Amino acid sequence: MMKLRELEEMLQSLSAFDKPNLLLEQYATSPHIASRMLHVAQTQYDDIEDRTVADLGAGCGILSIGASLLGASHVIGFEIDPSALAIFSENCEELEAEVDLICCDIIKYLPGKFEGFFDTVIMNPPFGTKHNTGMDVKFLEIASKLTKTTIYSLHKSSTRAHILQKGRYLGFKSEVLAELRFDLPHTYKFHKKKSVDVEVDFIRFSKKR
Ligand SMILES: C[S@@+](CC[C@H](N)C(=O)[O-])C[C@H]1O[C@@H](n2cnc3c(N)ncnc32)[C@H](O)[C@@H]1O
Repeated sequence: MMKLRELEEMLQSLSAFDKPNLLLEQYATSPHIASRMLHVAQTQYDDIEDRTVADLGAGCGILSIGASLLGASHVIGFEIDPSALAIFSENCEELEAEVDLICCDIIKYLPGKFEGFFDTVIMNPPFGTKHNTGMDVKFLEIASKLTKTTIYSLHKSSTRAHILQKGRYLGFKSEVLAELRFDLPHTYKFHKKKSVDVEVDFIRFSKKR
């Protein structure tokens, strides 16, 4: 099993968004956070190695590629933006990771497809702020159909009560595994400061039996 530090170092070699698109809430998960999310999912819950894994809103692929490095049996990254997928593809070559990429709007494409196909969904969805209201919940709803058992996801801590209630409604037990600080870069016009810290929950949803 790859050590945490080794995983983080490998993920540090990946490229992130060239020109992040504000409307799509494109901010990459840092190698520090991505490696810890994946490492916890594997070492504490055995949810990555030999598992089928989906990454919704995969961006440049850090979570998908990390899952593949930790021994997932099959990983599919779903992403709407072809330019992000071009970087994702180069990132796969860089680390010789075997990941399938599907370019689609998950909201339109995924309903009725891949239902119950994946053991684990891992994602950093759009937070669903401003013009994008409710997008975080739509991602969660779709993930709940795709997974056989478990979802790992990041959500703004300020929406915790709402997200946990939604998880229950979808038939999942939810656990906040960590409270993180997400350093959103200054690329976003509505942020006047150079970067803005946002409090984010790392949540594990497991299907009730
Ligand atoms: C917060 S970023 C996370 C990117 C990447 N997963 C990571 O962890 O670095 C959210 C991603 O969701 C993608 N996205 C937004 N809306 C989408 C949609 N409807 N269908 C598919 N992807 C979408 C964005 O383009 C962006 O890459």
